[in-house]
Amino acid sequence: MLIYVVNGPNLNLLGQREPQIYGRTTLNEIEQELTRLAGEWGLEVRFFQSNHEGALVDILQQADREADGVILNAAAYTHTSVALHDAVAAIKKPVVEVHLSNPQGREEFRRGSYLAGVCAGSISGFGPGSYVLALRWFQQQGDITETVRKN
Ligand code: DQA
Repeated sequence: MLIYVVNGPNLNLLGQREPQIYGRTTLNEIEQELTRLAGEWGLEVRFFQSNHEGALVDILQQADREADGVILNAAAYTHTSVALHDAVAAIKKPVVEVHLSNPQGREEFRRGSYLAGVCAGSISGFGPGSYVLALRWFQQQGDITETVRKN
């Protein structure tokens, strides 16, 4: 099972960006940990980060052709992007929305998500753990499919 992990604008700055909100872990460190866990859990992960909305649309479309699912932190585009909503709705592979912080407990403009309604589910507020939980869900999907297949 191949999972794309897609990160949106400003997440390349993790580690130095508002550490009181997003912590001191860099994106590279999160990716290393996901690679390690994916290896343990029998999954494959591939990473993308872009600050550009259209590039994120392209990656989601590519994921539909090449991957089995997507972990998506669309960052600020979560709260603004009809284009990303449409891209997630258009593709057949499950997308899990993740956030490091809990947008529900922050400014009013972060409370809405254009993505939540078209994603398989959303995980927020657990720092880098949000990505780990999303990856774990994909692993469990694999297990469930295997169990159903065997029985
Ligand atoms: C974020 C939350 C968004 O509101 C914000 O714009 C981000 C990061 C998070 O991971 O907590 O850039 O997606």
